[in-house]
Amino acid sequence: MTVQILHVADLHFGGLADERQVEALEAMLPDLRPDVVVLGGDLSQRARHGEFQRARAFAALAAQTAPVFVLPGNHDVQWWWRPFIPFGKDVCYGKYRRYFGNDLAPTLTVPGAILAGALTSHGVAWGSLTTTLRDIAVKGHLPKREMLRVRRVFAAADPSLARVLVVHHTVLRGQISRRMGLSRWRRAQRCILESGAEVVLWGHDHQEGADQLTGNVVVSTTGTLSTRSRGGRPSCFNFVTIEPSAVQVTFFLVQKTVDVIKIHAGELAGNRVLVPRKVAGRQGISGHGRAVPAVAFLAPAAGNRKPLFAGRLGT
Ligand SMILES: [Fe+2]
Repeated sequence: MTVQILHVADLHFGGLADERQVEALEAMLPDLRPDVVVLGGDLSQRARHGEFQRARAFAALAAQTAPVFVLPGNHDVQWWWRPFIPFGKDVCYGKYRRYFGNDLAPTLTVPGAILAGALTSHGVAWGSLTTTLRDIAVKGHLPKREMLRVRRVFAAADPSLARVLVVHHTVLRGQISRRMGLSRWRRAQRCILESGAEVVLWGHDHQEGADQLTGNVVVSTTGTLSTRSRGGRPSCFNFVTIEPSAVQVTFFLVQKTVDVIKIHAGELAGNRVLVPRKVAGRQGISGHGRAVPAVAFLAPAAGNRKPLFAGRLGT
């Protein structure tokens, strides 16, 4: 069976969100026909109510097309409430939970795959401590107990399912930023390899990428739809296709002019990555892949847009 994952992160609703780009994605969602939509954290900019409310509206719309998987990023944590206090950190996630539920690292099974989240966004915490002051609330860490839990989830799952791990922070060094998202990243990589994950999804760095950890674990790094793409690159989201023998990561890149927004897949050289999939020890998975549309959406000029909501809001 082929599984198609729409992998989006770092929408940063608030001042940095690019609404035209988000609306373009919202409009093309049904045509993409994903089996699951992953929102990999940093839904908000400052964990404000309005930012989470817009993110929830996005998730609700996506849920009309496919099940939605959400976990928090570092911007979604109200870290200033309890810095360095290891217990009673719940208050830091209060607003996120209000809009997306109690589970900060959910598990979701869809036909052909099991997705497990691991929480890497802990605010200002001992485990993420860094000497770079401006990264003190940005850096993440992946507690060992978190990955032991994921390992148990994957071990108990039907062997025919692809194992997909979702985290917010980068586990490999960013190509442009040259930064590691996680502290103690070697241990984190080792824990991920031991967990049985076959595909790992993350965001955080605002630059798209696809790579492999050793052991044929495929990595999808999604870009951002906010105005803060790294290195002046186009905004981007990823489409991950898990086939019986390979994993494809397709980058959907946004081209903007004053009048239109175009979102393309497969147009620029090197924006599609195919990685052989190791299936040894697993039952064969069969099925047929579906084509990803090449040019997906043309947004009308701002002045010609229809109103988003029909009907009347309460007075
Ligand atoms: Fe982040």
